[in-house]
Parts: sequence; structure tokens; C-alpha cells
Amino acid sequence: MDAVTTTLITHIGELTTNVAADGDALGTLRDAAVLIVGDRIAWVGPASAAPVVSPEGEGIEVVDAGGRAVLPGFVDSHTHLVFGGDRADEFEARMTGAPYAAGGIRRTVAATRAAGDEELRARLAAFVAELRAQGTTTFEIKTGYGLTVADEERLARLAGEVTPEVTFLGAHVVPAEYSERREDYVDLVCDAMLHACAPHSRWIDVFCERGAFTPDESRRILAAGIAHGLEPRVHANQLGPGEGVRLAVELGAASVDHCTYLSDDDVHALAGSATVATLLPGVEFSTRQPYPDARRLIDAGATVALASDCNPGSSFTSSMPLMIALAVREMGMTPAEAVWAATAGGAKALRRDDVGALAPGMRADLVMLDAPTRVHLAYRPGVPLVHTVWAGGVPV
Ligand code: NIG
Ligand code: FE
Repeated sequence: MDAVTTTLITHIGELTTNVAADGDALGTLRDAAVLIVGDRIAWVGPASAAPVVSPEGEGIEVVDAGGRAVLPGFVDSHTHLVFGGDRADEFEARMTGAPYAAGGIRRTVAATRAAGDEELRARLAAFVAELRAQGTTTFEIKTGYGLTVADEERLARLAGEVTPEVTFLGAHVVPAEYSERREDYVDLVCDAMLHACAPHSRWIDVFCERGAFTPDESRRILAAGIAHGLEPRVHANQLGPGEGVRLAVELGAASVDHCTYLSDDDVHALAGSATVATLLPGVEFSTRQPYPDARRLIDAGATVALASDCNPGSSFTSSMPLMIALAVREMGMTPAEAVWAATAGGAKALRRDDVGALAPGMRADLVMLDAPTRVHLAYRPGVPLVHTVWAGGVPV
């Protein structure tokens, strides 16, 4: 049997627990300590009342945080990390005025189909290391750059090697070879592709947008996935207004992502639902679109999450600290709201109750910042503030 490691992190200047207390949604504790036993949090409280874990020795460690801030590991509920190639040329063109177009997805599909499993696996491993170094301890990955039965199956399988949060996104765009017979492609997604991918997936997603899939097609695809035991999430209202948000709410989706162009009805529907509005400001940053209005959603009572949407087309960044900084600077969120959205909000978007907060029994996923407060995540944009990351109780 493996020895269980015990770690006491003490002298934490500001501990964000996300266990709401006294009107503070972030459950902030000052001069705090956290005890980790194995892969779980065993105790959280004031440093002065911390359990005694000495003598330090094999399997027992005391970490003096020296007044630094500690918070739950970031939960990135929306990424597209299995792909070949990149599209730096499109980004460069956008910066001189070219618009973002969903059609660029087909270029990544071609590069991904041409890449072997080992190449994709190595790339994925590098992305996972990149995420972790920036404090992300839970992440979702979508398929969607294969768009054949065999390619979607292998992307789902490869994603499943690094996360339990795999999303089948065969309905990303209609691939070029089906452009004259899109109904046949929708049939394929709902049938053979779903059968091949469902064993590797937890979620089903559809890009419900002009230029991708119509609301009727989206409804059919999501219903097929639900009938197959997958849980729905939706890409919607990214490039313009549409019915995607209301469809997501109607189907009880865990999350509807982008939410850049919302009507009052959309906001009202989200506010009265358990569907999380996941905002992806890396997209607006790298497409020069207007940012979504997080303030309007929060004030209406909707639950907001932040995610990176890391992908080679619309947002090639995996940095959750950058998402927090953009949300605060550009989307009307307070630093506390943005930190909550990047941790507890992401956990809600993935319907996970074991991550996104620090309390006994939760997974020991934590980030220590080289800063006295989480506010620095927005206050010092672009600075690598992540000092130490624990994933399942293990420093990474
Ligand atoms: O979430 N919106 C659809 N899919 C991705 C973009 C993919 C791409 O451009 O390659 C997104 O932004
Ligand atoms: Fe996306």
C-alpha cells in the first residue's frame, strides 16, 4: 500500500475557501492553515488552531506559506486541447482588420486528421503541463477537430487519457466533404459518431451559431446525446444573437458558453435556471469582438463561470489568471467574482462538487500565489504569480 502523504500548509495570509460565510461568497480566512491527507482536504481553519503534524518526516510535510494567498485550483470548464497545427496567420490577419470566421475550424480539422496519435498525445501532454503551471487543476477537453467517426473517436480517447471531463463535439462545424449534404452529417453525428465517442465522453456539445449548426439541428444532436447518457452543454451566442442560450436552458444544459450577444429574454432565462453562463474572454481578446457583459448576468442572478476556451482559432491561451484579469478589466466583474467564477463557477459548469472549493472531503487542488491576495491576479496582469500548485494533494 502506498504511504498516505500528509501536508500542512500554514501561515496562509488570505485563504479563499469558496465556502460562503457571513455574506462572503468566497469564505475568506486570514492567517489560515489547510491540512491535506492523501488526495483530500482534511481540515481548514485558523493557523493558530491547526492540527499538530510534527515531527516532519517521511510522508509528513509542513509548508510555511509566509503570508501568501492560497485558493482552490482553477477549473477550466471549456477547452479544445486536442488538435494539430496552429492558425497564427489568421490571428495576424485579424489584427489588421480581418474578421473571425468559424470556417477556420476546417483548417484545424485538416491538420488534426493528418497528425498521428503520438503527435497529438505529446502535444496534449505539453498543454496539460502548461495548464497546471498556471494553476489549473481540473479541465474539460472537447473533440471537434476530427469530424469523421474514426477521428472523433480517437480525439475523445486521447482526451480521456488526461481528464474525465471529455466532451463530444462532433457538431463543431459541417466538414468540407459534407458541405452539400449537411443533413447526412447531422445523421452521422447522431448515430455512428455518437456511438463511437460516447464510451469515452461525459458531455455532448454543439456549436449552435450561424455558420455552424441551426437551433433545430442542435436540438436534435443534443437530444441524441442525452438519449445516449451524455449530459448537454452548448456553444451559443458567440458571433451574434440566436436561440442557443434558450435551447440550452430548455434542455437543462450544465452550461452555455460564450454568451456574448444576449437579449433580455436570454438573461432572464439564464437567471431562472441552473444552467451556468460560461464566459470566455480569451475569445474576445483575440478576435477583437465586444466582451460579454458579466455584470448584467450577475446582477440578474445568473451563475457565471470563466474558462479559457483554449483552441488554435479563437483563443490560443490556457491562462486562467488572464481570464480573471480580462473579466475584471473588461466585463464588469469584481476581483472576488472573477476568482469565484474561475474556480467554484467552473466546478458548477462541470457539475462537480469535489473541486472548486476548499473544505474537508474535497479534492486537495490548491494554488499558492506569490502574492498576499487573490486581487493580484487582476491587479498584476501578465505576471506569473503562481508559486505552487497541488493537484490531488501532490505538488506539480
Ligand atoms: O469555442 N466556437 C466554436 N469553437 C471554438 C473556436 C474553434 C476554432 O476557431 O478553431 C470556440 O471559440
Ligand atoms: Fe469553444
